[in-house]
Amino acid sequence: MKKYKIAVIPGDGSGPEMVQEGVKVLRASAEMYGFNLEFTSYDYGGDRYLKTGEVLPEGAVEELKKHHAIFLGAIGHPEVNPGILEKGILLKLRFELDQYINLRPVKLYDGVETPLKDKGPEDIDFVVVRENSEGIYTGSGGFFKKGTPHEIAIQESINTRLGVERCLRYAFEYCRKRNKKKTLTLCGKTNVLTYAFDLWERVFNEVGEEYPDIRREYAHVDAICMWMVKNPEEFDVIVTDNMFGDIITDLGAMIQGGMGIAAGGNINPEGTSMFEPIGGSAPKYAGQNVINPLASIYAGSMMLKHLGEEEAATAVERAVMAVCSRDIKSLSAGRMGHSTSEIGDLVTGYL
Ligand code: IPM
Ligand code: MN
Repeated sequence: MKKYKIAVIPGDGSGPEMVQEGVKVLRASAEMYGFNLEFTSYDYGGDRYLKTGEVLPEGAVEELKKHHAIFLGAIGHPEVNPGILEKGILLKLRFELDQYINLRPVKLYDGVETPLKDKGPEDIDFVVVRENSEGIYTGSGGFFKKGTPHEIAIQESINTRLGVERCLRYAFEYCRKRNKKKTLTLCGKTNVLTYAFDLWERVFNEVGEEYPDIRREYAHVDAICMWMVKNPEEFDVIVTDNMFGDIITDLGAMIQGGMGIAAGGNINPEGTSMFEPIGGSAPKYAGQNVINPLASIYAGSMMLKHLGEEEAATAVERAVMAVCSRDIKSLSAGRMGHSTSEIGDLVTGYL
């Protein structure tokens, strides 16, 4: 029997409750489809930081690398200043594990409400491939004369040929395997960011020559925001840099029904990848059994697919879809008509 070692990081706020349901469904799928999942939990997060002053302990990255994948809840604590946990845990893991792709499907399931008038599940089904290891996120830059009237703050966007190329290649491959509209849209800002996106566009066209079956499109990020609302059905796969990817995937999450359902994978195709709901820790709902765990469960499905357990992955996704179309009143915390653990039970039932 195939065996996978999974590191679980429940994290902060509602993270642990979401993860618990994710793990429940994953365990059930493993039993049904005949593979073994060995979960090991790590207490990284805000509480640990407040107790020990440590974000990630010595050796944490090496320890996590020993796993086939990481299943993450959420990082972010109201009593910890912004940036400390995000940079110290989430971004640190993305960078140190070289998870250079952030894969974020935007798919409206049947029975889920979208704020877009006259759009349905047949219109909203695309995937954003977000570069996840470079751009403005590297922390390059600094202050000069901080706190004075002459203060200068510089935040640089780092785009390497290697980083851009591997991301674009992944996107072309993904688009080919997805086999839907076979259209890859580069989301950039070539009219203003004339260095960074000059590089992106050149490599896009160069690598694109190797994929004659994939239609290449380009759109500025502001126009993409407009079209995601106006004509989401035009998109198949969108590839973009780290910052634009961060922004447009929150918009994507909203048109697919909200943070209750949106999930993503931080992927290193050659290393250890990490799967997470993209919604954050929602501390105000913590401990009440009201948060929606579907995003975490869907992150679990993405993890199974990544591990090569395609059948189980599809079964979990179908079960999530069944809950969306038959059981759940709203995807919002507290308004689902079911508790967090009941949603986990319902998904398991449909499996
Ligand atoms: C996300 C989040 C993170 C990001 C934050 C928490 C650092 O917004 O995963 O999209 O900006 O990447
Ligand atoms: Mn974000």
